[in-house]
Amino acid sequence: MTEKRKSIHGSWSGRLAFVLAATGSAVGLGNIWKFPYIAGENGGGAFVLVYLACIAVIGIPIMMAEVMLGRRGRQSPINTMRSLAKEAGANPAWRWLGWAGVLAGFLILSYYSVIAGWALAYVFRAAAGTFTGATAEGIASIFEQLTGDPERLLAWHTLFMVMTMIVVARGVRSGLEQAVRFLVPALFVLLILLDGYALASGAFDEGLAFLFTPDFSKISANGVLIAMGHAFFTLSLGMGAIMVYGSYLPERASIARTSITIAFLDTLVALMAGMAIFPIVFVNGLEPGAGPGLIFQTLPIAFGHMPGGALFGTLFFVLLVFAAWTSAISLIEPAVAWLVENRGMTRIYASVYAGIATWAFGLLTVLSFNTWADFKPLYFIEIFEHYTIFDLLDYLTANIMLPLGGLFIALFSVWVMRRNDSVQELDMGDSSAYGLWYVLVRYVTPIAVLLVFLNVTGLIELSGLSGQTE
Ligand code: PFF
Repeated sequence: MTEKRKSIHGSWSGRLAFVLAATGSAVGLGNIWKFPYIAGENGGGAFVLVYLACIAVIGIPIMMAEVMLGRRGRQSPINTMRSLAKEAGANPAWRWLGWAGVLAGFLILSYYSVIAGWALAYVFRAAAGTFTGATAEGIASIFEQLTGDPERLLAWHTLFMVMTMIVVARGVRSGLEQAVRFLVPALFVLLILLDGYALASGAFDEGLAFLFTPDFSKISANGVLIAMGHAFFTLSLGMGAIMVYGSYLPERASIARTSITIAFLDTLVALMAGMAIFPIVFVNGLEPGAGPGLIFQTLPIAFGHMPGGALFGTLFFVLLVFAAWTSAISLIEPAVAWLVENRGMTRIYASVYAGIATWAFGLLTVLSFNTWADFKPLYFIEIFEHYTIFDLLDYLTANIMLPLGGLFIALFSVWVMRRNDSVQELDMGDSSAYGLWYVLVRYVTPIAVLLVFLNVTGLIELSGLSGQTE
């Protein structure tokens, strides 16, 4: 057995702080903005069921693997992978898995911050009563005015990046931990409030039926794979965010119990968001499959016509900003930890450094919605024909980088790391629970992830799977 390492960055004050931080990372735009619209586009209930199955079978085991590697390595994902590879007598090239994660986090945050900027902008619009009494066209033009103006998008993106850098610069205990201690519980309170509103809206049953009555004729094989891919994104897996949070986890906390709690809370938020959103969609005769604009272009219509809508609208977008904020800090943390470890920077410098680079790269996304909206860099490849730079970044990270990262994390944990080490780190003994984890990570998750990956890259075509072609 090797000597226990200590993180130079400090550690969480306890298991609860880690649960809050990891839940804050997992719960984000993915749950509140993305989950409802992809569930809406892919037929509702059946999609939700497949997504839940993927969280349980792929998400939880890979999360356990990621937390385990982080806690054993106790460094940034790059150095953790290097140390653990050395410990297992494996090729030091495994550190590239850490680098791929840093790159994925950088790319995701560059566009995530721009979308979070929309949410920030909407907090002020909702509070100012801009949506009150507005028509669908009026709401659409508010959205277009925002996204069509690069200067405004830039301003909100800048503000969001500054907010992110401030929290990250303050460090593990006084920055990250303090932030999530307040933000995560606030998020739940706001969601309960919104669900209460939805319950009274008159279409709660319809919303519930849409989300929870599976109709398998409505989901394609591709929908199954979208559900699987979303499990990675929503649980922040495959890029080292959960690994670096795991590296600050105290020795005693049970990784299995903790991972299940986080996955449960993340799923709860997605379902609570869905339960708040769909009744509002139905009672106002809106379209569940409206796409990425679902929240920004249709919810304000509802907020504009409900009693107390300015207040509820403001609360809703505040909630979205909170959720995005606690995810953003985890997207940049692997890079910041590495800069501190290998470049000898203070956290403040490292945060500013990484933040400015991410902010600058975000300009590509800012311009994708206006000046460069017609610029389709890969127009000569059929599936990317209509993709803007933003679309390409989203596709590259969510559909390729995260599943690939998760695949290699799974492979490392059970094929490279010694079994004794994972038995010891997971602290479940050589029990049947451990055996289940081992089999899932060794066989089930890599095969499932490989299918997602091959399908999204078009190398195989699985659309015959559910008997429905697209
Ligand atoms: N899980 C976040 C969400 O659902 O919005 C997004 C995310 C955060 C993805 C951190 C990946 C990550 F490492």
